[in-house]
Amino acid sequence: MSAATTTIVSVAAVARPNNTAVAELATQQKAPGLEDAFAARVIRMRVNGKEYSAMVYPRDTLVNVLREQLGLIGTKRPCNRGECGGCTVLVNNVPVLSCTYLAVRADGKEILTVEGRDYDKILKTLQDAWVEADASQCGYCQPGQLMSATALLKRNPTPSIDEIKLAMSGNLCRCGTYMNIIEAIQLASSRLRGGSS
Ligand code: FES
Ligand code: FES
Repeated sequence: MSAATTTIVSVAAVARPNNTAVAELATQQKAPGLEDAFAARVIRMRVNGKEYSAMVYPRDTLVNVLREQLGLIGTKRPCNRGECGGCTVLVNNVPVLSCTYLAVRADGKEILTVEGRDYDKILKTLQDAWVEADASQCGYCQPGQLMSATALLKRNPTPSIDEIKLAMSGNLCRCGTYMNIIEAIQLASSRLRGGSS
């Protein structure tokens, strides 16, 4: 392994919001010796209301950066190839599959993950409704389900059952909790409009 590669991996492995090395590189317009298109670079994102900087390669996916650099392991990657929806997060309020979304595209954007309960009222209301409706079994798909549901209620506060099914159709659940998920979304929709059920 070359010296340059060793340095990059070392920085990436410890990158955290207040990491001094990343912050120093972030103040430079261009990291010395990293000019080529395949080189690592610093990106900045606002995740769940907090500012983060991370050193990423062009090939790094958003889910890997969230989990391995920022320590936000709530986002899962069940298939890691864009088929199951389990890695869904919101980028500027739009649901994306973070296993196929390159981290460099997130530079300067607002990210919402399943850890954003205290930052986003719709997500918090959905999580509470999820528990009441018993919408989770093994739980592995549920972070992605919750983020797709959050995106739905942000753009459509009163979805019909058919609209819920369509919005959630990209999220697979091997445990088959689909009906409970629909119930949870309807419950959260009602609560957000001031209803008790
Ligand atoms: S882990 Fe991204 S779609 Fe399955
Ligand atoms: S709750 Fe188990 S895969 Fe969905």
